Formats: sequence, C-alpha cells, structure tokens
Amino acid sequence: MAAPTKIRACRKFPAPTAIILIAGIGVGATAWAQQDKEKIIAERQDAMKQQGREMIAVRNYFQDKGDQATALAALVSLKGSVPKVLEWFPAGTGLGQVSVKTRAKPEIWQDQDKFVAADKTVIGQIDTLEAAVKGGDKAKTETVYNEIKFCDACHSTFRAPEQR
Ligand code: HEC
Repeated sequence: MAAPTKIRACRKFPAPTAIILIAGIGVGATAWAQQDKEKIIAERQDAMKQQGREMIAVRNYFQDKGDQATALAALVSLKGSVPKVLEWFPAGTGLGQVSVKTRAKPEIWQDQDKFVAADKTVIGQIDTLEAAVKGGDKAKTETVYNEIKFCDACHSTFRAPEQR
C-alpha cells in the first residue's frame, strides 16, 4: 500500500510546485486551497454516483428486479441529497479551474439562478417519483422515471460531456 501512495505523490507534486514558483504565490496557502477543492470534487462525484445507484434501485422496482421498500429508501435518501447539490459546487471547482477531472461547466457559476432552478426541478421530479412508488403503481413509476432520465434537467445544461 505504501509504494503506490509514494508514486502518486511524486507524480503529482512537480507541476503545481512549478506553477506556484512562477506565480510567486505563498506556497502553503495555495497548496491547501487546491487540495480542498480536489476533496470537494471527489466528494461530490462520489455523492452523485450514490444518487445514480439510488435511481437504479427505483428502476429495479418497476422492472421487477427490486422491492418497493428498497426503492422508497433510495428515494428518501435522494430527497435528502438533491437539495444539497447546490452546496457541492463552490466557486473555482469547475472545468479548467482544477487539475483533477471534472465535468462541472462554467455555466454553474455564470448562471447561478438557472442552476438553482434546475435543482428545484429535480427536487420536484423526485417527489413525483416517490408518490408513484408509494402508490405501488409501477407503470406510473416507469413513466416518471423516464421523464427524469438521469436527472437531465440539470445535467443537460450544467454537466460537460465525458472527456477522454
Ligand atoms: C443542479 C444540478 C444537478 C443535479 C440536480 C444533479 N446533478 Fe448529477 N451532476 C451535476 C454536475 C455539474 C456533475 C459533474 C460534477 C463533476 O464532474 O465535478 C454531475 C455528475 C453526476 C454523475 C457523475 C459522477 C462522477 O462519477 O463523476 C452522476 C452519476 C450523477 N451526476 C447523477 C445524478 C443523479 C442520479 C441525479 C438526480 C437524482 C443528479 N445527478 C442530480 C449536476 C447535477
């Protein structure tokens, strides 16, 4: 375990150090701020992956691959996390602003009102989805699920395509 960590550290360090020296900025503060941003990005990507798994739990329900209770638990979790999405995107953590991989488009900060509105839309959609699952109506659940897709109300505008 120790060896890979070392290799990663060696690979990561030279570039930022060079940038800091060239820019002549205080080394300590800059390095920490950058680390914090990378941590936030990693955390939000993990949290989004979790949301993806929860949506699949709902899909499993109407596809007869999972039960209603599991789908409802996933929806309770989604209802807690979707409103928090807004907190996961502090300024300076977008595409082109960090060295780690992110698909967060600059529009998130340029068009904050629309970003907030997109989150509200998804919150409403999740409520509708929950009502359908609670009612035990699989056909309705499928319809609502297909409307939400993969939370495209936000992704279509604010998430950049996958980069290679
Ligand atoms: C208000 C906007 C918004 C909402 C709502 C939202 N997302 Fe996202 N999502 C994003 C953005 C922006 C990214 C890109 C984040 C990054 O790459 O740093 C993302 C990334 C993702 C990813 C990829 C994570 C990775 O591996 O890097 C998944 C999966 C995902 N979202 C699922 C969901 C699901 C499912 C929902 C709804 C239950 C949802 N998101 C709601 C904006 C949103």
